[in-house]
Amino acid sequence: MPVNTAIQSYQMYIGGEWVDSESHETFDSINPYTGEVWATFPSAGAGDVDHAVRVARKAFEGPWRQMVASERSRILRQIAEAIGQHAEHLATIETRDNGKLIREMLGQVKYLMNYYHYFAGAADKIHGEVIPVDKPTMLNYTLREPVGVVGAIVPWNSPLLLLSWKLAPALAAGCTMVVKPAEQTSASTLEFCRLVIDRVELPRGVFNVVTGFGERTGSALAGHPGIDKLAFTGSSETGKAVAKLAADNHTRVTLELGGKSPNIVFADAHLDNAVNGVIKGIFAATGQTCIAGSRLLVHRDIAEPLLTRLVERASRIKLGDPQKMETEMGPVAFKEQLDKIKFYCRKGEEEGAKLILGGRSPEREDLKQGYFFEPTIFDHVSPSMKIAQDEIFGPVLAVIPFSTQEEAIELANDTIFGLGAGIWTQNLQTAHTVAKALRAGTVWINNYRVVSFASPFGGYKASGYGRESGLEAIDEYTQVKSIWVELANKVDDPFILS
Ligand code: NAI
Ligand code: MG
Repeated sequence: MPVNTAIQSYQMYIGGEWVDSESHETFDSINPYTGEVWATFPSAGAGDVDHAVRVARKAFEGPWRQMVASERSRILRQIAEAIGQHAEHLATIETRDNGKLIREMLGQVKYLMNYYHYFAGAADKIHGEVIPVDKPTMLNYTLREPVGVVGAIVPWNSPLLLLSWKLAPALAAGCTMVVKPAEQTSASTLEFCRLVIDRVELPRGVFNVVTGFGERTGSALAGHPGIDKLAFTGSSETGKAVAKLAADNHTRVTLELGGKSPNIVFADAHLDNAVNGVIKGIFAATGQTCIAGSRLLVHRDIAEPLLTRLVERASRIKLGDPQKMETEMGPVAFKEQLDKIKFYCRKGEEEGAKLILGGRSPEREDLKQGYFFEPTIFDHVSPSMKIAQDEIFGPVLAVIPFSTQEEAIELANDTIFGLGAGIWTQNLQTAHTVAKALRAGTVWINNYRVVSFASPFGGYKASGYGRESGLEAIDEYTQVKSIWVELANKVDDPFILS
């Protein structure tokens, strides 16, 4: 529980209790706007993770397993309501921890409620089928059962949202969970336990939080034999590593990984809308979203007017204190991430791309202490450059021109990733032909960065596998049992030929 001093010292949440790590080691969290430590968290080791997994297993085998589905629905609705009551506090904490804008966070946390309501509605509609098999004397039916104990590993860019994408369907399906939030942003998950989980009728041990670093705590969780399913969001490299750890125990895995998503603007696009869509795609959340529209593929005929407008709008983006409602872009979440963005901007210039906006941290005195970076646009980017291929995860747009629809499709698909894509055109055939040809899990036509609890979300290629949100998410947390019933009164001797 947070202690009310200048620096908050948090404990972990295991089995409904607030605990330190066995070793009593802790680590710090920094406010990216002030550059100062504001909270500390227990650094969980393998023993702590083992304890949490055992507690989650016990809850799964015990009260949670026995509970009827409509009761789980009721609890999910309680969670939704409790989030609503504390939305402002949860949003403030997340803004302090990762520098995301308060105005985005307020909307996001309030919207979180919908995930719990949606999956509350789904919980008592998870059922098997009676299958008309080709064996005339036999009845065959299926049961959809919870997979069991879920290990969740969540990144720092949208901690509560990405947790809820996993927790709401997992609880609906009847699973229990141990989550490890990112080391940079563990506070909101623990505040969620304190304000929400502690106050609803969730049996102890159904939801548990271990805090710590990826290499230590995260890998202990991913490789724990007591985990039935691992749900991971983060970088493609780490995704690969955790899937390998999980493979040792035959643990099922879903991965929601990185992206290098294209925003494709055709010559007939509604330009004002396209400008807004491209700006929101790359500069919202300071570019730190998996679906950032980090590549602008633009038809040569409109490249100049589009870029003029983009530069004009992007240069007016108000950088500042993320807790203020008027701020349009906050800091990058932590120093290593800022260094990474700077590295890519240097690479872009070395490789011959033309920097037409930003490319550096702002000089303003009031922003010096924070991890700020200016909205950045590189023109004349060629597809082989690093800034066209790698996920930068910052406010850096790479502009690549095209001449034909075929070329646009080829360029759009020409990265290892396949998470999102935007298409801007007023032509119906172009829109749907290109949408079908793109190898991406989500395609937006004449908008960008829209998600819903009701629509499946996930990646193609190196952007991962499995789907979150929508009814598809339930499949990821259930498994099917096939049950055969002989209805005839006689079972033949197996060795007599008929
Ligand atoms: P990461 O993928 O390493 O971290 C995400 C989560 O995985 C964190 O909770 C972390 O503690 C955990 N983790 C890290 N190493 C682990 C390991 N060996 N075993 C188990 N868990 C582990 O991402 P990171 O280092 O925070 O950011 C690096 C880059 O990844 C970013 O610059 C960005 O490009 C990308 N990224 C993409 C995200 C997305 O949503 N697509 C989210 C976060 C990062
Ligand atoms: Mg990492």
